[in-house]
Amino acid sequence: MNSRHFLPMTPSTKFFAIVPAAGVGKRMQADRPKQYLELAGKTVIEHTLLRLLQADVFTAIAVAVSEEDPYWPDLAVSQHQLIITAPGGKERADSVLSGLKIIREQASDDDWVLVHDAARPCITAGDIHYLIDSLINDDVGGILALASPDTLKQVQGHAITGTLDRSHIWRALTPQMFRYGMLKAALEQSQGNPAITDDASALELQGLQPKIVEGRPDNIKITRPEDLALAQFYMEQQ
Ligand code: CTP
Ligand code: MG
Repeated sequence: MNSRHFLPMTPSTKFFAIVPAAGVGKRMQADRPKQYLELAGKTVIEHTLLRLLQADVFTAIAVAVSEEDPYWPDLAVSQHQLIITAPGGKERADSVLSGLKIIREQASDDDWVLVHDAARPCITAGDIHYLIDSLINDDVGGILALASPDTLKQVQGHAITGTLDRSHIWRALTPQMFRYGMLKAALEQSQGNPAITDDASALELQGLQPKIVEGRPDNIKITRPEDLALAQFYMEQQ
């Protein structure tokens, strides 16, 4: 584990994590939401939360889960003193907003919030520290991202209409790190907008320009059945 310690700009600046975990995992086609599937002896979400806890920077971690979720209360980690349960929402953005609301009393507008998908269990403490170190003096914040190894095509139907300049295209990962007040306002103002598929896009809609910070390629999002074996392989390599 990477155990560097930070000296944030303002000694009182706090860090919170928000973990949206209220999805149903449609593309995974399993008998339960993908965050509760087993991976190397634990559920996906347990790995994710243990890694956030290992980063040793968060004042609290808010986890947004569906109100009909029978799996979450059975996990010991749901009772951890730093973990707070929030009700999930219709879309990912609604779940994130719900997580922000549950920590309202503890957070000030300038505190940093790192939003991290429950479905990304391979996140490393090192990448969390690197994101924080890279953005701590930034006005807006930003996200972990990856360049695309493949050539990228623009298509209409199945016809290629162009080739994108790869140097300008990055894949958005999580965590995504923003100031509490800015993120909450941006998500509130974009509620119901289907174009908001991550946290950065809500800030972009405000005319802001979040930064990208190059992350590790093993920080995959479990999406389809084959991703579980891949995540297990990456964990063994880490
Ligand atoms: N999520 C959430 N609330 C929602 C939808 C998604 O908290 N209403 C969470 C998921 O649990 C996941 C993260 O957002 O941790 C990223 O979403 P995604 O990978 O799309 O997960 P699902 O929506 O569960 O999967 P699918 O789109 O295949 O149904
Ligand atoms: Mg989804």
